[in-house]
Amino acid sequence: MSITVVDHPLAAHLLVSLRDRSTPPTWFRSLTKRLTTVLILEATRDLPSRPRSVATPLEVTEGRTLVQPLVAVPILRAGLGMLDAVVELFPEVRVGYLGLERDEATFQPSEYYAKLPEMTDAHAFVLDPMLATGGSAVAALDSVKKAGAEWIRMVSVVSAPEGIKALEQAHPDVPVVTAAIDRELSDQAYILPGLGDFGDRLFGTEPKD
Ligand code: PRP
Ligand code: URA
Repeated sequence: MSITVVDHPLAAHLLVSLRDRSTPPTWFRSLTKRLTTVLILEATRDLPSRPRSVATPLEVTEGRTLVQPLVAVPILRAGLGMLDAVVELFPEVRVGYLGLERDEATFQPSEYYAKLPEMTDAHAFVLDPMLATGGSAVAALDSVKKAGAEWIRMVSVVSAPEGIKALEQAHPDVPVVTAAIDRELSDQAYILPGLGDFGDRLFGTEPKD
């Protein structure tokens, strides 16, 4: 499996603020969107395109145009924070939704919502900021493949070695693009050092101390 850790000073600058526990949800959302833009540019580096002739005001020349369709699949809830960046870069993108929630005791994901377009021939991006045990990403990729997708990229913000290993075993054909590979998982399957519960920080639902 190929894994790309985006090595760019802007990505590092945005990530350190996402990690900062004092960053409030308003700012967290903006940072997520900007960092996703950087990640998606990397994840789409090998997006297929075909030649296209174009008439400039002066003459005809050759260019390239993207091969459609593109499909983005944010994993609810936290993946929603990454969607705006994709829609702004690729306004014609189709969007499928997968709702997955980890059980707090077993860390196993359960699916509570799924709405995917037909994905045969699609170029698909699965968006989930946290790749922890990898259970949610593996389940999401199972669903996206069942819907017909073959060309798939997994885009995450922070990954744990455990999650990468799980993906390598279950979906070795899916390249992963991430901003960081952190040290390990905690006993509660949180990424260390990580940035906490992404969904809670994005939507302001963190429990009070
Ligand atoms: C978080 C995160 C991933 C999942 C990663 O979602 O957004 O989907 O955990 O963990 P895993 O790799 O161990 O499966 P969570 O279940 O907390 O739901 P939320 O996005 O609704 O907060
Ligand atoms: N989900 C999160 O939001 N954060 C983690 O560290 C692990 C799973």
